[in-house]
Amino acid sequence: MQTRALYTLLALSLGVGLASAWDQAPALPGRGAPISGSDRIYTGDQSSNTITVIKPSSGEILGTISLGDLRLGNNLNPQYVKVVGSHGLGFSPDGKLIVSLAVTSNTVTVFRTEDNSVVSQSFVDRNAHEAFFQHDNRHIWVGTRGVDRIDIVDGLKGGVVGYVESYGGPSKVVFSPDGKTAYANHIRSPSLSVIDVAQRRVVANITGLAAVFSSDMMISPDGQRLWAAHKMAGKVSVIDLAAQRVIGVLDTGAETNHAQFAVINNTMHGFVTVAATNETKMYSQPHASEMPVYLGAIPASGVEPHGLWPSADNTRLYVVNEHSDTVDFIDLTASPPKVVKTVNVGQEGQALIYVSGAVSSASNGTQNLGKQGLFDKPALNKLLTEAKPSNAQSNRSPPPTGLVTVRPESGLDMLQVIGRNLRLNTTYTVSAKVSNSLIPLVDFNATAPTGPGCGTAPQVLAFLKFIGVYDIDKLVLTSKAD
Ligand SMILES: *[C@@H]1O[C@H](CO)[C@@H](O)[C@H](O)[C@H]1NC(C)=O
Ligand SMILES: *[C@@H]1O[C@H](CO)[C@@H](O)[C@H](O)[C@H]1NC(C)=O
Ligand SMILES: *[C@@H]1O[C@H](CO)[C@@H](O)[C@H](O)[C@H]1NC(C)=O
Ligand SMILES: *[C@@H]1O[C@H](CO)[C@@H](O)[C@H](O)[C@H]1NC(C)=O
Ligand SMILES: *[C@@H]1O[C@H](CO)[C@@H](O)[C@H](O)[C@H]1NC(C)=O
Ligand SMILES: *[C@@H]1O[C@H](CO)[C@@H](O)[C@H](O)[C@H]1NC(C)=O
Repeated sequence: MQTRALYTLLALSLGVGLASAWDQAPALPGRGAPISGSDRIYTGDQSSNTITVIKPSSGEILGTISLGDLRLGNNLNPQYVKVVGSHGLGFSPDGKLIVSLAVTSNTVTVFRTEDNSVVSQSFVDRNAHEAFFQHDNRHIWVGTRGVDRIDIVDGLKGGVVGYVESYGGPSKVVFSPDGKTAYANHIRSPSLSVIDVAQRRVVANITGLAAVFSSDMMISPDGQRLWAAHKMAGKVSVIDLAAQRVIGVLDTGAETNHAQFAVINNTMHGFVTVAATNETKMYSQPHASEMPVYLGAIPASGVEPHGLWPSADNTRLYVVNEHSDTVDFIDLTASPPKVVKTVNVGQEGQALIYVSGAVSSASNGTQNLGKQGLFDKPALNKLLTEAKPSNAQSNRSPPPTGLVTVRPESGLDMLQVIGRNLRLNTTYTVSAKVSNSLIPLVDFNATAPTGPGCGTAPQVLAFLKFIGVYDIDKLVLTSKAD
């Protein structure tokens, strides 16, 4: 360990990007390098269609990589050939490449971390969501949710070079620390595929996950456990990878997003972002064969925390707040851990990754960066409760709500609604109160069932001129039953 620490120090002072598979975050204690000026954080910003590049050592926003136009720019134009829907992110174990997944245009774009230049761009199967590099620093395994197979892309030359059948719309792929095994979760099957990387073949299915829909998941740096998050059900399936079985389910809460791990006080800790309550829940799990113990929640500075990743030295955890367009820096050495800094990033952040040794000291790594998606004013948020339901039957507890988020886009503003605790198959309207009249802005139906007669509307979008026209504090939520 001492030799290794010395080597790391030597390598860092020489400006050599040292990180290897083993050393990237999340890393075991003593393996990952301390936070340095060579490290970078990246966020996948869906609405601004960008990747924000952050220098964690100083907290500076270096700029954004543009993948195409802002939402509703030219994206609906028949001649548009760029990317739509910057979402997932992964990186090569040597820290030299990152991969960006676009859910709408089905594109996989690889960038060189040193100068943010494009290495390759590939067109893959429907709904490329999350992906990761194989340990060869070249091949990328892509969770393509629209089909029943994983696409394998050559990240250097570009192009799909292979497939792995994986039933149920594979959503994300992660690799074991030794790189020999890959795992894929799904959005249409309560199962985890266990894949032999060399054979490119599923060798086992871990079944009995808590829900059919698992968008995100994470493997711990010791390779012993995997937590599969279920956003719609608000749960996390806890999987013991040695035993290849689900050992239990955590009731984490509505809109549970991503899971991550960090080793604190020599004990493995798991973290889960719970968007509906604006917090990151923290658990300790000393043994992979035993259920985690809940320790408490770390309040977010903003709304709808989503992607998260620790630094390689396990001292910080970074969380992107999807509906505030910010990233929180959490100090994991504080007791209890808390947010110590918040920075503004691109719009509607989904994934967040931390890459050690991304740039050499010869470069400040700001080439090819611009300002797209970075706004002085943060996104506006307002939680509406349904206005006076008229009949006793519709007096629900908890009451129907709509979280409204407004941001500037190309020429128009985007108004987003997340409807919760709604009556299933009922039409709701968000209106603006102007003088004594209500101007309807958007209708939506509660179509995603969550319980008997109950539903949500997770992805309502409308585009209109809002900022400077309407007042977010004067919005009203009503239903057709009123
Ligand atoms: C895993 O499940 C899929 C889908 O049900 C099935 O086709 C495949 O044979 C299973 N593989 C193994 C190794 O059990
Ligand atoms: C989350 O943030 C929204 C917007 O600021 C706020 O209205 C809501 O009360 C918060 N939720 C919780 C559970 O704190
Ligand atoms: C780690 O140990 C310190 C010192 O005992 C304690 O104050 C802190 O709460 C611990 N952190 C966690 C996350 O348990
Ligand atoms: C990075 O380097 C470029 C070119 O030398 C310089 O123009 C720019 O100001 C530098 N940016 C930072 C954040 O240091
Ligand atoms: C809501 O559902 C009704 C009945 O199916 C349909 O007529 C209406 O178009 C839907 N509204 C929206 C906004 O999807
Ligand atoms: C809601 O609508 C769907 C599709 O039309 C239908 O299958 C379902 O039975 C309806 N549920 C309720 C509670 O009305």
